[in-house]
Amino acid sequence: MEVDETMPDAPAIAALTRRIDRPIVLVGLMGVGKSSVGRRLASALGLPFVDADDEIELAAKMSIPEIFEAFGEPGFRDGERRVIARLIDGSPKVVATGGGAFCNAETRQLILDRAIAVWLDSDVETLLERVGRRDNRPLLRDGDPRETLIRLKRERQNFYAEAPIHVASGPGAHSRTVARVLKGLNEWL
Ligand code: S3P
Repeated sequence: MEVDETMPDAPAIAALTRRIDRPIVLVGLMGVGKSSVGRRLASALGLPFVDADDEIELAAKMSIPEIFEAFGEPGFRDGERRVIARLIDGSPKVVATGGGAFCNAETRQLILDRAIAVWLDSDVETLLERVGRRDNRPLLRDGDPRETLIRLKRERQNFYAEAPIHVASGPGAHSRTVARVLKGLNEWL
């Protein structure tokens, strides 16, 4: 389902919150704005927000680049799967996941079974603009980030497309994306 934007009013948002009976899980590539949109979405809905990458770092007592360095990507994926399984505990909240989480079959199934997955989607130019602001992503450290993002988009597109709600996260203000997610949830629930 593709979704347009118009910000619902406060009573409509309150009514929507009452219908949310599971975690809302944001999925999509690095740089689509999962954490920023997730934080604003949670605040609009009056729900808790958790960032799965932050939780992985807390659990490991290491940063994500350090985890990749020490255990490789497979080790990171294993920790990611366990942390997300713990976060998807049934209670309504907004969860931002790392870009690769939904590409793991087990994690994806768990999210599809027990949460509401929302795919945030941006074009490569917008992703590049956003990821360029930080240097904390091991997968973008080697090679040309544009090439890497183009490849990851191609490889991961079909996984993300399994999310029941698909929202464009354009280069404008994150509040517009939040409005689109609210509309998507309202139509899907
Ligand atoms: C990854 C995305 C990152 C983080 C890790 C791996 C990926 O999260 O989980 O660096 O595989 O796409 P963000 O999507 O929040 O940048």
